[in-house]
Amino acid sequence: MNVDIFPKKMFVTGTDTGIGKTVVSAVLMVGLKACYWKPVQSGLTEETDTQWIKRITGLPESHFMDEAYKLQSPLSPHASAAIDGIRIEMKALSLPSVFLGCNALIVEGAGGVMVPLNESHFMLDLMKQMGFPVLLVARSGLGTINHTLLSLEQLRRNRVEVAGVVLNGPKSPENREAIAHYGNTRILAELEPLPEINCRTLEEAFSRWAGVLC
Ligand SMILES: Nc1ncnc2c1ncn2[C@@H]1O[C@H](COP(=O)(O)OP(=O)(O)O)[C@@H](O)[C@H]1O
Ligand SMILES: [Mg+2]
Repeated sequence: MNVDIFPKKMFVTGTDTGIGKTVVSAVLMVGLKACYWKPVQSGLTEETDTQWIKRITGLPESHFMDEAYKLQSPLSPHASAAIDGIRIEMKALSLPSVFLGCNALIVEGAGGVMVPLNESHFMLDLMKQMGFPVLLVARSGLGTINHTLLSLEQLRRNRVEVAGVVLNGPKSPENREAIAHYGNTRILAELEPLPEINCRTLEEAFSRWAGVLC
């Protein structure tokens, strides 16, 4: 596989929360030596996605920027912001200009496509505003076809460019084929469960994606 199938700038979304967006982003970060931005972090009780990616990849500070919104409660951003007494403003979610010089850039969303940011905007609107191709992370197993096709449909209806799907979890050739066929999309990569997540295992995963290892 040619790693050029991955866009230089991409918005990583998922069919759900906890689906593997951050882990897939970390594989791409290590492989592409990319910059990373998480514009909206919802939930501050555990390590944030940015902190986790920094620690695991060991990439320099210059590859990262602070989140535009750091919301206390691990809820949908609209609800978490309300608890913090603020409203998420779309114009505060413009890409920081410091990222313009990056070799590659990964912007990670929160949750999935139809997660509300405020009373009238969704994560989808942020994808439209950014204008980068979207990489959709989906689970590999049962139930994924419905979630993935719905997410792809909504992205396309809104004329958001879809780079393709990354399937996370134990390989399922049947689901892979169904998503590629019915979703009329590319499966960019598959990520199997990693027994341990560290810089080396992420690098190996990327090498498998790139066809360097078998
Ligand atoms: N391929 C994988 N191998 C091992 N652990 C994984 C894998 N994908 C996800 N996980 C674990 O599952 C949890 C949720 O993944 P994460 O990437 O944080 O999801 P999201 O960013 O979509 O919320 C994390 O604890 C993560 O380490
Ligand atoms: Mg995440």
